[in-house]
Amino acid sequence: MCGIFGCILKTGKAAPIIHEGLKKLEYRGYDSVGFATIDSGALHVRKDAGRIDEVVERLEMEKMPGSLGIGHTRWATHGAPEMVNAHPHMDCEGRVAVIHNGVIENFMELKEELLQKGHNFTSRTDTEIIAHLIEEEMKEDVEMGEAILRALRNLEGSYALGIVSSTDPERIYVARNESPIVLGVSEHGTFCASDVPALLPYTNQVVYLRSGEFAVMDEDGFQIKNIQDGTSVVRELQEITWTLEMAEKQGYPHFMLKEIYEQPVSLRNALRLQQRYIDLLSAFMDRGRELFLMAAGTSYYACIAASYMFSRLSRLSTYPVIASEFIDQYGSSLGIDSVVVAVSQSGETYDTLQAIEHARMRAATVLGVTNTVFSTLSRRARAYISQQSGPEIGVAATKTFTSQLMVLAQLALRLARTKGKISQDEVDELDAKMQEIPDVVEEVLKRHGESIKDLVDKYAGEKLFVFLGRGISSATALEGRLKLLELTYIPSLAYPAGESKHGPISVIEDGVPVVFVCPRGNSRQNIVGSIMEMKARGARIISICEEGDKNIIELSDDVVEMPVGIPELLSPIPYIVPLQLFAYHLAVKKGLDPDMPRNLAKSVTVP
Ligand code: G6P
Repeated sequence: MCGIFGCILKTGKAAPIIHEGLKKLEYRGYDSVGFATIDSGALHVRKDAGRIDEVVERLEMEKMPGSLGIGHTRWATHGAPEMVNAHPHMDCEGRVAVIHNGVIENFMELKEELLQKGHNFTSRTDTEIIAHLIEEEMKEDVEMGEAILRALRNLEGSYALGIVSSTDPERIYVARNESPIVLGVSEHGTFCASDVPALLPYTNQVVYLRSGEFAVMDEDGFQIKNIQDGTSVVRELQEITWTLEMAEKQGYPHFMLKEIYEQPVSLRNALRLQQRYIDLLSAFMDRGRELFLMAAGTSYYACIAASYMFSRLSRLSTYPVIASEFIDQYGSSLGIDSVVVAVSQSGETYDTLQAIEHARMRAATVLGVTNTVFSTLSRRARAYISQQSGPEIGVAATKTFTSQLMVLAQLALRLARTKGKISQDEVDELDAKMQEIPDVVEEVLKRHGESIKDLVDKYAGEKLFVFLGRGISSATALEGRLKLLELTYIPSLAYPAGESKHGPISVIEDGVPVVFVCPRGNSRQNIVGSIMEMKARGARIISICEEGDKNIIELSDDVVEMPVGIPELLSPIPYIVPLQLFAYHLAVKKGLDPDMPRNLAKSVTVP
């Protein structure tokens, strides 16, 4: 996630407006910042690593000349948060400046071709290739807009782009594939931004650029075109009636709901991870004598689910461990052959950091999976993967959980390929299914986004919930329980279903709701017995199961039916979504604030 802002003013300087616009987008990333402005046909670029206000002041960026410019606030994905990797990026001649939010998947191939053609690169970003591709097309002596369109047709991946050039000093070009960008007009000029809040101080007349579209902005407005065939697109301006606060949540009443709905996009981004990082981490993992998956809170539940994936796919036994227990539990036996994969959204959780320091002291290999590229975890780990979910503001983790699972699933599949313990066909099939998961989650949100409220209405008065699942679904049950518990404060239990008769079943009496997570798969048969046990004691059964799963449906009082064909090993990703929605809507119904549950913090940096 990054933030983009651009403006062409009829009078006055663009730079202070860009600064103000980027401040509204700071939530999208804040590890480096850069502006490009054009004045009297000359391109001016200033950029550096650091927070927006600090960099803008230090480099006196508000003094940059020109009434036209673009600005970027970065959330590092490719390349460390350093000055050279800050946007804008330029071509060899310094005539084109590009800002980008997204991930270009085929950048390695494109970079290779451009290097062969003699282009010089200064950064390690995927973005820089776009400036060079445009430069290459400009050699054909075509108009700037045409050169950009031709360059864009080479790109695979996600992007929202802002492009300016000294050869065309009156215009800003923008383009979109997946990553958002909104255009706005007022009597003072034309604007673009990643998100509406940045535009609202200047205009409420906007147009959302759609995926596959390109726009040419000048001081009087903009023209939209289709990237593939260059045809014009006519779209009416839309009036935004949101307040600034509403706009920051993109019209959703809470950040949590917005983040739940962002999952198809965040999962697609998690699938675009660079393979070399997957290769690197999996190679380290493969070398260990013992492999720990260590985390706290929701990230720990992702580790539990992952332990099933590593065992089944890669034939690797892993130990999921709670970070605060790690030193006591395994600290003394760790050694040079131990590999510790620390999973942490923030990369700053105190217990997780303590545990990795201990592991480092004992010469273990520490690897990281985190959402925060410049976090302590990413600095202290031997190698890490950025899960690329973008900032998560709701205290309860949602999109970061599903993205962690997506990263861990990719690692397990990579190890499955290298170790060759399961058939190539099976790996390929699972890989193909994995690529479909973002669409499946989109479908689940469509099906259950609203209808889950009926379930909430029915069970809102309950004093106790029990969550059960078998196999990998026991992790889904644990995470579903955690969401409900932390948001609604309703006491609830979660167990692997087979364990329920060793204690938890004693709380069951007439009417107690028991949520069963039961996708089709190996563990599906055993769950039927567990449902019967609960039913026999008067429990009301709520099942999350595959559409048309007759046995389960007949035994259940209420059912959330999920799309057909989801492999059990990937099921926690879509199956957690109805449970996130259930917890969210139940909290709202109880008049609680789902974004800020009592006593909890987003990042626990204390012992
Ligand atoms: C806190 C948050 C949880 C999170 C946990 C671990 O408890 O409220 O949402 O799962 O910390 O955080 P981490 O950043 O290490 O994943």
